[in-house]
Amino acid sequence: MLSNLLPASLLSLSYLVLVSAAPFKFTDNPLGNSFPNPSQQQILDIQTQAHGSLPNGPSPATINPNTLTSLRLIAFNELFEVAFFSSLLNNITTNATGYEFQSSSSRDSAVAAVTAILAQEELHALNANGALSHFNTPPIQPCQYTFPTTTYEDAIALASTFTDLVLGTLQDVSTLMGSNGDASLIGGITSVIGQEGEQNGFFRSSAGKIPSALPFLTTSTREFAFSALNQNFVVPGSCDPSNLATIDLPIFPPLSVLTQNITAKEQMLNFSLEFETGAGTQGKIWKEQMGMEYNNLTVVYVNQQNLPVVQKIQNLDLTAGGLTFEAMFPFEEGTFGNGMTIAVLAMSGGNLTTVEGVASATVFGPGLIEIN
Ligand SMILES: *[C@@H]1O[C@H](CO)[C@@H](O)[C@H](O)[C@H]1NC(C)=O
Ligand SMILES: *[C@@H]1O[C@H](CO)[C@@H](O)[C@H](O)[C@H]1NC(C)=O
Ligand SMILES: *[C@@H]1O[C@H](CO)[C@@H](O)[C@H](O)[C@H]1NC(C)=O
Ligand SMILES: *[C@@H]1O[C@H](CO)[C@@H](O)[C@H](O)[C@H]1NC(C)=O
Ligand SMILES: *[C@@H]1O[C@H](CO)[C@@H](O)[C@H](O)[C@H]1NC(C)=O
Ligand SMILES: *[C@@H]1O[C@H](CO)[C@@H](O)[C@H](O)[C@H]1NC(C)=O
Repeated sequence: MLSNLLPASLLSLSYLVLVSAAPFKFTDNPLGNSFPNPSQQQILDIQTQAHGSLPNGPSPATINPNTLTSLRLIAFNELFEVAFFSSLLNNITTNATGYEFQSSSSRDSAVAAVTAILAQEELHALNANGALSHFNTPPIQPCQYTFPTTTYEDAIALASTFTDLVLGTLQDVSTLMGSNGDASLIGGITSVIGQEGEQNGFFRSSAGKIPSALPFLTTSTREFAFSALNQNFVVPGSCDPSNLATIDLPIFPPLSVLTQNITAKEQMLNFSLEFETGAGTQGKIWKEQMGMEYNNLTVVYVNQQNLPVVQKIQNLDLTAGGLTFEAMFPFEEGTFGNGMTIAVLAMSGGNLTTVEGVASATVFGPGLIEIN
């Protein structure tokens, strides 16, 4: 199956059809090591599988509350990643349908790589939660998760997409730590950025792509990562509500990119949204306002380290439950649109010159587009 390479394609997280497999629950102890609460001996075993250790230096004496939000988001994301790679490894090792390999050498290298990635993600999660405990604030508890993938190829493509989003989000986390007086934590974060980049080189190579996507990877924000995780993978209502509420970030309602298999060319893209799905009351508020005020909204694309690209909504249709519309995707080889692009629907009066400004103005999103 590894020779059955994925085309340069769109992976719109919000549009993937959820399959009806049983949700992934850590309470079933799927890793066999009590994760996320392993014993000291089990941590040593995870470190062996991860080929390295948790950091053992001292923590800073104090920490900014904004940095605690970042650590909570990181723990929330890493718990999801542990669940995903645990499910993936289980599917490979049990020879589940869709996860078979043509040769034992390709199977062996996939098992070796995913085993290490799983253990490395476990340590990322334990490190973030350990820091939260150290600062006397509750660690993040896992939720239940579902994954939209049923083949090895699709799982690897999805891993590449959510890793791209993490790679962008940790840029935001590093910047915020710097501006909030926690510069001593940035080195640890950037060590993980490189680590996740190595993982993504493996995902991309496995899909027949060149390992490195772009000279400067696409930026993101904590809000986009938190929204994408909740929209796409977390079983609604499965997180402990008071624990989830400690993560002081919005969950936007989803924006779906309907156009599939987006290729490297300038083109119109189709989008849709539903007024009352996703994030609680925000969608409902917009149902009341939007029939009149969709002219106040605009599509914004974030790609690489460049200024956000604003495109007007075209061919808008009100449907029973929401909207469909189109917007230009102004791909230009070498300039705009390669790698991951984040698409959002934002208030046109917002400050759309930086990714932080785009996040502040976002009403629906993120839709994720992958080219190359
Ligand atoms: C593992 O297989 C199950 C059953 O097909 C599927 O629901 C799940 O999404 C797969 N996991 C991954 C990470 O692809
Ligand atoms: C899965 O397939 C591999 C290679 O064909 C084989 O060695 C292994 O025993 C199989 N495992 C299970 C659990 O069926
Ligand atoms: C997108 O690509 C996949 C995989 O090649 C294919 O199965 C699917 O039909 C394509 N969808 C469209 C709308 O072209
Ligand atoms: C967008 O959707 C409309 C209506 O379903 C369809 O006619 C059109 O071809 C689509 N356009 C693109 C660019 O996918
Ligand atoms: C929408 O735009 C109109 C004029 O273009 C403006 O008067 C109105 O305040 C805007 N609404 C919002 C919610 O920003
Ligand atoms: C938009 O954000 C940029 C960067 O933070 C800032 O320089 C600029 O003044 C802001 N513009 C407005 C209108 O707030």
